[in-house]
Amino acid sequence: MMRRILLLLAAAPAGCARIEVPAEVAPIATAVAARYSVRTDLMAIGDLGAPPKWNAPGVPPLRGVRLGGQSPDPEFVKQLKPKVGKAILDPQADLTAAQKADLARLLDATFGSPAAPTVRAASAGDAAKIKLDEQFTEGRPAGKTAKEATADAVAEAAAAAAALGLDTAALARGGLLYRRWCAECHGPTGAGDGIHAVFAGPMPRDYRRGVFKFVTAFPPGVARKGELGKPRKDDLCRTIRDGLPGSMMPAFAHLTAAEVDDLASYVIHLSVRGEAEFDWIAKVIQITKDPGETDPDYSAALGEQILAQRVLIALGNWGRADANVIPVPPENTPAQADRLASAARGFRLFAGTCASCHQDYGRTQQLKFDVWGTVVQPRNLTLGVYRGGRRGEDLYARVYAGIYASTMPDSKAKAGPMESDRPDGVWDVVHFLQALADPRERMLLQQFDAGVKLD
Ligand code: HEC
Ligand code: HEC
Repeated sequence: MMRRILLLLAAAPAGCARIEVPAEVAPIATAVAARYSVRTDLMAIGDLGAPPKWNAPGVPPLRGVRLGGQSPDPEFVKQLKPKVGKAILDPQADLTAAQKADLARLLDATFGSPAAPTVRAASAGDAAKIKLDEQFTEGRPAGKTAKEATADAVAEAAAAAAALGLDTAALARGGLLYRRWCAECHGPTGAGDGIHAVFAGPMPRDYRRGVFKFVTAFPPGVARKGELGKPRKDDLCRTIRDGLPGSMMPAFAHLTAAEVDDLASYVIHLSVRGEAEFDWIAKVIQITKDPGETDPDYSAALGEQILAQRVLIALGNWGRADANVIPVPPENTPAQADRLASAARGFRLFAGTCASCHQDYGRTQQLKFDVWGTVVQPRNLTLGVYRGGRRGEDLYARVYAGIYASTMPDSKAKAGPMESDRPDGVWDVVHFLQALADPRERMLLQQFDAGVKLD
């Protein structure tokens, strides 16, 4: 007996036993499809109302509609079915076979394939060839002709693609890393439909709306379409490096800065592709099924113009995000008493503008649909766990800009002037949030101001 044990011990390798996976059974994380698939899933485009109670986080509501009776969310299916055709578009049913083929061809020509990804924005020559200015006759800046607006859009898109690092070498490197680290959750086209997606509540981000939640850019004036919720490339890098605390989005702290940058370039590639595809589908369905007085009939040439225009607009908005960084003024509260006074002012602002969604500070369920038609719960703010970072400046940016994609409004109007000692309403709210999530500060705040009620 003793001899047998000794023999077994001798047979065990020194140190920790390593299980070697033979190459032929190792999962091929970098398997690469020949082409990107074209969108077939339902698209939320309008107001979906208020969601009923959320009982099965596995299947997002829009996918549940296709599952019909098998959906674990029959309540959602009942509510959403009548909205298909109005607030929800169905690319599979509503595009003709010819339109689908045009879209696939145009997307491949513009964005390449997973192995050779590109972002080919129209040049001045392309624009002239396809008469792109016909798409810039409406909504162009005052005093500009359609030709000038087209030329501006071409120039802005080219500058943005260069500044964001969307060259083919960076995109190829980023694509490889993406299939290794991200596709299992975010899916090969960035639809948020990877194999692990159903287990994640909240769902992995679907990049194809062109908007993100945790961004530090905000347009100074009236926002153009697609400008709100557009992140800076730095925002994507921060998300990738630090993850989103409180969700399944992991931190990729082991990747080098260059790898994170390539990944962010690739996410932008998928996002521009998805946004152009979304806008194209919505526009083509509208002019086919519900044409306005001035809408031309669909033709392949028109389809080409529409896609080229949407790519230019999306890239222009990405480029503009970097120029519109949220200004965070210095935090002027050196002493504890000043901080508490600021937090008490923040408490009153919160009661007036935030409590309608963050009911009982987010401890009560108060569900919303976000722009994707997935369900979100206004954060429980007593926990101190924030996706977009917990530093004062992170919270400042979040409160200042709101979370466009989740319906949370901005509080820009409450910000004070830069470089001044005047109280800044946004900092007041941030100090309140910080006190709310810290048991000791919560007690101090209630002692400081008897009007503050937190429990
Ligand atoms: C285990 C699943 C998982 C993996 C792997 C994963 N993500 Fe995510 N990711 C998520 C989830 C879940 C969210 C959404 C969280 C939320 O909305 O609160 C998300 C959100 C994001 C966002 C959106 C941030 C915003 O501001 O809206 C980006 C960008 C992102 N991930 C990029 C990546 C990249 C790049 C990789 C690979 C390096 C990756 N993710 C890997 C699950 C994952
Ligand atoms: C219209 C509803 C609504 C209003 C009003 C609202 N919020 Fe939110 N808020 C949300 C939703 C929904 C989320 C969750 C976002 C998500 O993850 O999709 C959220 C998330 C947050 C977060 C978490 C951010 C992070 O990084 O995780 C903070 C902080 C926050 N809200 C603060 C505020 C403050 C302060 C106000 C008032 C100035 C406010 N909210 C007003 C809906 C709202």
